Amino acid sequence: MFVSLRYPDYAVDWDDVRRKISPRTRAILVNTPHNPTGMVWSADDMHRLAALVDGTDILLISDEVYEHIIFDGIRHESLLRYPELRSRAVVISSFGKTFHTTGWKVGYSLAPQPLLAEVQRVHQFVTFTVHAPSQVAFAEFVRRDPCAAQLPAFYQGKRDRFLQLIDGSRLAPLRCDGTYFQLLDYSSVSGESDREMAMHLIREHGVAAIPCSAFLYEDTGGPVLRFCFAKKDETLEKAAERLRGV
Ligand SMILES: Cc1ncc(COP(=O)(O)O)c(C=O)c1O
Repeated sequence: MFVSLRYPDYAVDWDDVRRKISPRTRAILVNTPHNPTGMVWSADDMHRLAALVDGTDILLISDEVYEHIIFDGIRHESLLRYPELRSRAVVISSFGKTFHTTGWKVGYSLAPQPLLAEVQRVHQFVTFTVHAPSQVAFAEFVRRDPCAAQLPAFYQGKRDRFLQLIDGSRLAPLRCDGTYFQLLDYSSVSGESDREMAMHLIREHGVAAIPCSAFLYEDTGGPVLRFCFAKKDETLEKAAERLRGV
């Protein structure tokens, strides 16, 4: 079962979540900050989730890989902050996002011991192992900077620079509270589907973006493309110059 996030704010529709929970529901998957929309769960979202799972055996699996990439002073609402959620949750994060090593595929999960034993069992047969020297290096990085203190300001700077550079473009930015992805609304440029628009941008302007529909179960993403601003400033400048010409 999927709960669709809908353009333009992609907020969680809690009535829809309630409708889709049944006695057969084993687990709910959460992702905050959310890729591709940049939407971030609030404390209210967490309370609503807690109310819905209260009195059930539903487990929670929370993908929080962008936990440190969150902007404008907003607090990351991890499931770990809420004892009633933490006690039934597996929280997953990624050193790839936190230490600029995306693609290295080294991360971690936190859960109560009985749940973690199940995670380890699955890990043993699905992933088997990860590159141990990288794990040692990441452990050292975590010791030096457990909260990845520079990360929000670093990526907020990238987001703001990108937005400033595309100012005057016909592509309109949507709100981005977290992740390193910015959605741009192209409805004043074209009525094409997001896949067609993405291909058009690549062919005619040499800028690659991801159509949101690639992530979605239902077509609720709206006329938007996802742009990654985790790039060198020169790359952002070149891309923005091209995007201003769209
Ligand atoms: C929401 C989300 N979860 C998990 C991952 C996987 O992260 P990693 O490749 O660092 O393991 C990604 C990567 O893009 C992601 O966006």
